Amino acid sequence: MTNNMKKIIATLCLSAAAVLPAAAQDATATIHVNKGQNIIPKEIYGQFAEHLGTCIYGGLWVGPESPIPNTQGYRNDVLQALKDLKVPVLRWPGGCFADEYHWMDGIGPRDKRPKMQNNNWGGTIEDNSFGTHEFLNLCELLGAEPYISGNVGSGTVEELAKWVEYMTSDGETPMAKLRRQNGREKSWNVKYLGVGNESWGCGGNMRPEYYADLYRRYAVYCRDYDNHKLYKIASGASDYDYNWTKVLMDNVGGRMDGLSLHYYTVKGWGGPKGSATNFDNQEYYWTVGKCLQLEDVIKKHCDIMDQKDPKKNIGLLVDEWGTWWDEEPGTIRGHLYQQNTMRDAMVAALSLNVFQRHTDRIKMANIAQVVNVLQSMILTDTKGTGHMVLTPTYYVFQMYKDFQEATYLPMDVKVDSINVEGGHMYKMTPGKIPAVSISAAKKADGSIVVSLANTSLDKAQEVELNLDGANAKTVTGRMLTSKKITDYNDFEHTDVVKPVDFKGAKLKKNILKLSLPAKSIVVVNVK
Ligand code: AHR
Repeated sequence: MTNNMKKIIATLCLSAAAVLPAAAQDATATIHVNKGQNIIPKEIYGQFAEHLGTCIYGGLWVGPESPIPNTQGYRNDVLQALKDLKVPVLRWPGGCFADEYHWMDGIGPRDKRPKMQNNNWGGTIEDNSFGTHEFLNLCELLGAEPYISGNVGSGTVEELAKWVEYMTSDGETPMAKLRRQNGREKSWNVKYLGVGNESWGCGGNMRPEYYADLYRRYAVYCRDYDNHKLYKIASGASDYDYNWTKVLMDNVGGRMDGLSLHYYTVKGWGGPKGSATNFDNQEYYWTVGKCLQLEDVIKKHCDIMDQKDPKKNIGLLVDEWGTWWDEEPGTIRGHLYQQNTMRDAMVAALSLNVFQRHTDRIKMANIAQVVNVLQSMILTDTKGTGHMVLTPTYYVFQMYKDFQEATYLPMDVKVDSINVEGGHMYKMTPGKIPAVSISAAKKADGSIVVSLANTSLDKAQEVELNLDGANAKTVTGRMLTSKKITDYNDFEHTDVVKPVDFKGAKLKKNILKLSLPAKSIVVVNVK
């Protein structure tokens, strides 16, 4: 135990808790294997790709003429890594970029497309060579649902209505004809439509009352064509802005299918955000605390939604989340390129466990962002070597694949907690974090998948799980950990942080005992 923290024993009620008998273990949980109700939507493991830095250009797309091996312009290595991840949904083209994006500039012959300046992200010149066709065809290659983020801030109702028609109409409509002229006969399968992004800020600096009226107007003209049924998502709050959610629920209500929420694990917006790789133990524990505050924020937004929508018809979509650090030294300002350590992996696992607990309301979550921006899955060397590296966060998403569309299992949990000093500096109350985070689900084949994260930097955790109602026979698992919490993968050392088979599980009848090393993430499958 380090000097800057002291351990206390506490009971953390992570679900409707029953009192459990005292045990020799550091953590115990009873998982109710036959009491699951909510299917975990696969969209919770969603991704986000913005025209920002090298996310699109150099990350996903190099163009068909590039010496970097590609399929129709998409990098082969990145394409394969994302296929392996089973990306369920991909949000595009922003972010802040979406509210300055004019989709008609991104269709037709690439060499004729007009250029624009990307005012939000470093003033980079955008040549529009990656547009609607390139994005939607990528989604088809990946087997991912597209999530289009529409321009409300600087666009018009007519422009967004026509984009919907272009993508989804199969009739003799003007936009469907234009799409056919551009080489695509059939409409694409587009379900998710975001009506603006961060409309309180970069998306138009609006008041919630004004945005609510605007949303209602846009929603009328974004039509359902042929067999397509749009799922319309209103631009939601950031963090602690509960009033935004309330005004939207009061004034838009059932006219929206979903309402978004953005929550970044970030120190603040004005000053330095801290190094992605060079941090001390106290900063690590602060990060875990700030990340876990997500659950309280979600609960408060959900409570407000429950008042108007007790049947939970309107989804909450956390369509931007993840860590936000200072940009790597030597990279372009405004491109948000950051490294990714075992600390980021911990944030990913803890956040996914939180989302899994709230699937009665949360219907999607999109980590920011898929390649080369913020807490990415993949980093690519865009300087010509064509190298690619998978981040620790990638491996968390890989290990969590089995949770997609499994049934969430309720549990009674008793774990130690760790006191985090200095937490109050960043509005973190209380300054405690659970030493172990646990989440479980039952797959369609009846097997059980359990994720566990040991947040302690220096103490292994002995965990005992009672799989109540199971008929458990075998257990297998994977583990992600590293020597130092600051460890990361780069182009020279690609395998510093990588999952290994987990050997620390013992199963006897329905009791599963696990030894979790310090700072480890483990996912086990029980059959
Ligand atoms: O993900 C980076 C930016 O963060 C997005 O463009 C914006 O929506 C948010 O502020």
